[in-house]
Amino acid sequence: MESPIVIAIDGTSASGKSTNARLVARALGYVYVDTGAMYRTLAWYCLKLGVDVKDPEAVARVCRRWKTELRCVDGQVRLLVDGYYPEREIRTAEVSAAVPYVAAVPAVRRWMKRKQRECIRFGNLVMEGRDIGTNVFPETEFKYYLDASLEERHRRRAAEGVQEDLAARDQRDSQRKVAPLMVPLGARVINTSGMTPEQTSALILEDIRQRLASR
Ligand code: DC
Repeated sequence: MESPIVIAIDGTSASGKSTNARLVARALGYVYVDTGAMYRTLAWYCLKLGVDVKDPEAVARVCRRWKTELRCVDGQVRLLVDGYYPEREIRTAEVSAAVPYVAAVPAVRRWMKRKQRECIRFGNLVMEGRDIGTNVFPETEFKYYLDASLEERHRRRAAEGVQEDLAARDQRDSQRKVAPLMVPLGARVINTSGMTPEQTSALILEDIRQRLASR
């Protein structure tokens, strides 16, 4: 059997990764994986336990003992904690501020990579994050990197009712020692400023179809 296809979509915060990854997954009938949600879930869990997210040892300990389960629901992979998916809880400003610390812990990144690679048991994937093309599935030929101007990214978050310091989060994500945010080698870079999700996802889909046809 051929191994599943993985479409890696990386990029800065609010660059349109989630919207486009969902659209691409739906168009191709592939399973969607939001890896940011996985890091957010761990950050939320640490906060819930009262663990200091700036203490890497403490965060690594929580991760090691974590009882979780990956499940595919409606074409989307979810990381369940004690059978529960904290869909709304992980989108708060408090979790957004905590997550870069959690995501910088080497033991956490190893754990996440293992779980994210396990997702291929669900089939072909569209996986979005910060290190998918560089670190989680470096072997895939389908790599996309999305970015947009800071102004546009703030506008998009504001439209969702969220105010946050995106530049600070990007800086933390780009400067961490382990698997920092960067453009994967061979990735197609797309600046989504001024583009609608339909236009961006159409570009990505066209590129994927061309590559699939020339295999
Ligand atoms: O995509 P997002 O904003 O939900 O991601 C939340 C945080 O998780 C983000 O600040 C960086 C981190 N992250 C990461 O380090 N690696 C990934 N593959 C995905 C997210």
